[in-house]
Amino acid sequence: MDEKTLKKMIDEALDLMQHAYAPYSKYNVGSTVLTARGNIYRGVNVENSSYGATICAERAAVLSAVTAEGPEMKLESVVVATHSSPAAGPCGMCLQVLSEFGDSNLEIVMVNDKGEVIKSTLEKLLPFSFKQVFLKK
Ligand code: THU
Repeated sequence: MDEKTLKKMIDEALDLMQHAYAPYSKYNVGSTVLTARGNIYRGVNVENSSYGATICAERAAVLSAVTAEGPEMKLESVVVATHSSPAAGPCGMCLQVLSEFGDSNLEIVMVNDKGEVIKSTLEKLLPFSFKQVFLKK
């Protein structure tokens, strides 16, 4: 991803934290995803009084991308913004969902409001993701 796009995605993800619905954890997360078509989609965490119904920001962004582009949507990069230091990465469930729509070299960038940026890949964060191919008989 070029530096200009990365900066835009980071700035937007940081801004999005204000839109999070997190009255229970008070832990706001913003996420932007870049698709192979070059579009950016957004997500925030949306919590629920039935805690298990909570949706993470990264998955919300992926749902938005699929809704806009359809089932062929492919992810190029993901940015996750939190107030955590060191900058926090996607949870296991989100990594698994990202693996459905991204290659092992999918770029995952973790940032926070203190200016920290950690760059990683799906392969590093989830080396043995469960793949569609395992379901083939
Ligand atoms: N959360 C995310 O949005 N993304 C993650 O990858 C980890 C956790 C949210 C879920 C919940 O609303 C809050 O952060 C605390 O777990």
